[in-house]
Amino acid sequence: MIIIEPSILSADFNRLGDQAREAEAAGVKAIQIDVMDGRFVPNITFGPGVVQALRTVVQMKLDVHLMIVEPERYMEAFAHAGADRLIVHQETCPHLHRTLQSIRDLGVEAGVTINPGTPVSAIAEVFDLVDLIQVMTVNPGFGGQAFLHSQLTKIREIAELLSRQERQVPIAVDGGIDATTAPLVVEAGATVLIAGSSVYNATASVKENVTSILASIESTA
Ligand code: DX5
Repeated sequence: MIIIEPSILSADFNRLGDQAREAEAAGVKAIQIDVMDGRFVPNITFGPGVVQALRTVVQMKLDVHLMIVEPERYMEAFAHAGADRLIVHQETCPHLHRTLQSIRDLGVEAGVTINPGTPVSAIAEVFDLVDLIQVMTVNPGFGGQAFLHSQLTKIREIAELLSRQERQVPIAVDGGIDATTAPLVVEAGATVLIAGSSVYNATASVKENVTSILASIESTA
């Protein structure tokens, strides 16, 4: 089953709770909260307080993408704020194996993600410790960027590795996902599609945008 997971990075910050509720009402099962510290990425966004606020207005899964240095310093705060999954960047975790174990010890799901310049080999030793593997299909920091087609090979490589290891870890993709690129990443092996600007925009509602992305996948299946 293909999951469209809206990123609230492109939501209207003047009414974040309403936008989260709109996604839940549209049948969305999870939203991704892009946490940025202005150091790992050139942008600053949300802290645990925003997760806590969203936790009070929606029941769906809150997936927290930590684009921050030293994520181990804040994992507990985000978990206690109500995060259901914490996704860390391999590039920010010198002790990635231990960090992922620590996330699971907090009672939440653990995810790992890699930037476009990072090879799959950098995370191949921790596939047994994660509930999600996320391939960045843009350089992190901003929504609305162009999809990097070069990352399709990486998605296929991860899918093949997981298949050889007989592991059922979902592969997520994040960045530039829309009705045009969604079929490409699904064909490569992704099943969780993080989508910000193609879901939250002035063109159509969340429900209409999610429906059109899913329809694009159906029409090319
Ligand atoms: C990158 C962010 C974005 C966001 C999705 O820093 O992680 O990828 O989630 O943005 P869009 O879908 O607008 O590319």
